[in-house]
Amino acid sequence: MLVLGIESSCDESGIALYDTETGLLGHALHTQIAMHAEYGGVVPELASRDHIRRILPLTRQVLTQAQRQLSDLDAIAYTEGPGLAGALLVGTGIAHAMGVALNIPVLGVHHLEGHLLSPLLSSEPPEFPFVALLVSGGHSQLMHVTGIGEYTLLGDTLDDAAGEAFDKTAQLLGLPYPGGAALSKLAETGNAQRFRLPRPMLHSGDLNFSFSGLKTAVLTLSQKNPQTTDYADIAAAFQLAMTDVLSSKSLAALKATRSKRLVVAGGVGANKQLRAALQHATQKIGAKVYFPEMEFCTDNGAMIAFAGAMRLKHSGKTAGTFTVRPRWDLASVVAPQTIS
Ligand code: KG4
Ligand code: ZN
Repeated sequence: MLVLGIESSCDESGIALYDTETGLLGHALHTQIAMHAEYGGVVPELASRDHIRRILPLTRQVLTQAQRQLSDLDAIAYTEGPGLAGALLVGTGIAHAMGVALNIPVLGVHHLEGHLLSPLLSSEPPEFPFVALLVSGGHSQLMHVTGIGEYTLLGDTLDDAAGEAFDKTAQLLGLPYPGGAALSKLAETGNAQRFRLPRPMLHSGDLNFSFSGLKTAVLTLSQKNPQTTDYADIAAAFQLAMTDVLSSKSLAALKATRSKRLVVAGGVGANKQLRAALQHATQKIGAKVYFPEMEFCTDNGAMIAFAGAMRLKHSGKTAGTFTVRPRWDLASVVAPQTIS
């Protein structure tokens, strides 16, 4: 079964072709970062208009690369939510129009399910069950995953998401949007031991997170230490605090679920220090950590094509309704077998 995946939830248009027999045949991405950077964040209307410009040319590009034609497609999977309503509507509209024209099923996919399953696209995929640490621009969640569509929420953020905390802190330090990667680069040149930032909720006894206080601590510290060299040290201290909290809660989630497999997904999963810390921490307790390929950490079409293909493979059914869900709780997603 050949599935076209369309991702358009935020500031990246991602297209991919996934074959359930042979795997990923091709993928392409257009990032709008340069367009939004001058405004310091995503401008939703500009995002929607750009998705309109990009999705069809990217689809043609991927089909040509994979030496396939539109008529070869068996189904189309698109991001139904969560995300920006206008941006989601573009992908949803195109997917449904193509579905009608080609007379093939279309399937709305939960964006976070895409992220969560993205490590399964790698050469050494994890087996179920596992604990997933989902750390993106909009979410910071720990989930217990026992199968496709079987997700139990273990912990969530009470305020800012991990990526949001990286982005806001980066902004405070004068770095361009989106700040996560830029902050991480600056941190490499800093001394993480010079300043000690708080580790919010480290000992809260649950698996929840809170990052807004950390951002405020950075604000105070950066006002007291305004030199460029100070900023590198602050960035390093911030990254270390984030890494400490994310690894400690992930280990607690493994313990609580008696699991030996941790899957990390979402844009913050691209953070090198977090990757190294989780490798080290899981190894120490005889567990294993799995990451998506670097290119599939941030938003992409491959994870949507893959999640859609897995759902179709398990149930053969599509929801079929034209809808977007800008706010959508991942724990409310059901397993494909139970879709009626
Ligand atoms: O998963 P994603 O592409 O989009 C959402 O679904 O939100 O995640 C984007 C987030 C941004 O907040 C970005 O700053 C962060 O991931 N990010 C990073 C790194 N690369 C991207 N955060 C820390 N370190 C990185 N290397
Ligand atoms: Zn995402």
